Amino acid sequence: MDKLLIRGGNRLEGELRASGAKNSALKMFAAALLADGPVAISNVPHLRDITTMIELLGFLGVEVVINEKMDVEIHANTIKRFRAPYELVKTMRASFNVLGPMLAHYGQAEVSLPGGCAIGPRPVDQHLLGLEALGANIEMVEGYVNASVDGRLQGAHIIFDICTVGGTEHIMMTATLAEGQTVLENCAREPEIVDLADCLNAMGADVQGAGTDCITINGVESLSGCHHRVIADRVETGTYLIAAAATGGRVRIQNANPEHLEVLISKLREAGAKILIGDDWIELDMEGRRPKAVSLVTAPYPAFPTDLQAQIIALNCVAEGTSTIKETIFENRFMHVHEMNRMGAKIRLEGNNTTAIVEGVEKLTGAPVMANDLRASVSLVIAGLIAQGDTIVDRIYHIDRGYEQVEEKLQNLGADIKRLATS
Ligand code: EPU
Repeated sequence: MDKLLIRGGNRLEGELRASGAKNSALKMFAAALLADGPVAISNVPHLRDITTMIELLGFLGVEVVINEKMDVEIHANTIKRFRAPYELVKTMRASFNVLGPMLAHYGQAEVSLPGGCAIGPRPVDQHLLGLEALGANIEMVEGYVNASVDGRLQGAHIIFDICTVGGTEHIMMTATLAEGQTVLENCAREPEIVDLADCLNAMGADVQGAGTDCITINGVESLSGCHHRVIADRVETGTYLIAAAATGGRVRIQNANPEHLEVLISKLREAGAKILIGDDWIELDMEGRRPKAVSLVTAPYPAFPTDLQAQIIALNCVAEGTSTIKETIFENRFMHVHEMNRMGAKIRLEGNNTTAIVEGVEKLTGAPVMANDLRASVSLVIAGLIAQGDTIVDRIYHIDRGYEQVEEKLQNLGADIKRLATS
């Protein structure tokens, strides 16, 4: 298994381009199953999760054509199977989202239940509640959701019990081919949902209100192919901004979307960073200063994203002052804390492990560390960048799921980081 070796102490300085958003692209790949024609998606990041989704589509018999720029064209009409196996769904939960599109387009789908993962139990009850409200017959058979419908799905009025990104996306895309109008309430409002709605509308769907808590979908009989460009990855952009701030450095990120990062930008300003923004770029300058501690609570968009919580804790480890970070989205998303403490951080968990109290220290010390989740793993890379001495981050296949060319991008910013490949 590959590892990353980081020799800490260098300030990050320079410029990089944000990649396309993983969490948008994955859902668009599932949405392509709704279309009769080829769906072409550009600005797709080159990541392990994307490869897993392509593998799943290939397993279903769907033809996927990829060019050297990672423009991906999906031809759903070549589909031969309607069953997504456990082996592929367990490695990546987003694959569960092929259920609704297959059902809406072809009247049948069997998809393995994804199960829990390192950051919590992550049920799919809201997805199933939505599909049943649209008229799906759902049966649980040996760990699989077997879904079928006689004729077309029917539009419905659905109020989600909780705010769910995946649930909102899944039911929104499925309802595009239902007969009549669907109104979804208590929807999540993440930018990736708006991006998916834009892609669906380019396919000929009629989706209104994405980005608000109420989405209306007027069902159509069929969807065509389209071309859509994925938005910039706000979590990747945010990760590099935090990394630069934590090292006292300066970074300019091109191809970014500052509007999607308003809370992070204001938190980094609170930490002492000077930040300039343009239409599609963000520039952060810490001018060599030590960051000031920043407290926050994670919550659904537009509040502070859970996907940047671990990275901001890495910054707080060496900040001036004490911060309180409360995680409200996932039950078990503090695994990085114990590893950071092994590097000399002073973090304690309170409130049944929902809140981290971080007492800033002058320095961290390099150590061998690892985590079982993408964002926790990348936060350990940030900790390694600010630590004195060598840090080895193990199990970096988690990082490869969500960060394109992570070591090349960091090397370009002046980090001393290299991949140790093991056979
Ligand atoms: N939940 C339920 N029932 C459901 C669905 C969700 O109880 O049917 C709960 C979850 O267990 C969780 C909360 O609701 O406690 C929110 O989950 P949500 O459905 O919003 O998350 P998701 O769709 O599974 C996506 C991203 C995550 C990101 C979250 C929150 C993708 C592929 N994943 O997950 O991204 O953290 O939204 O913003 O879009 C990551 O990229 O590292 C990552 C984990």
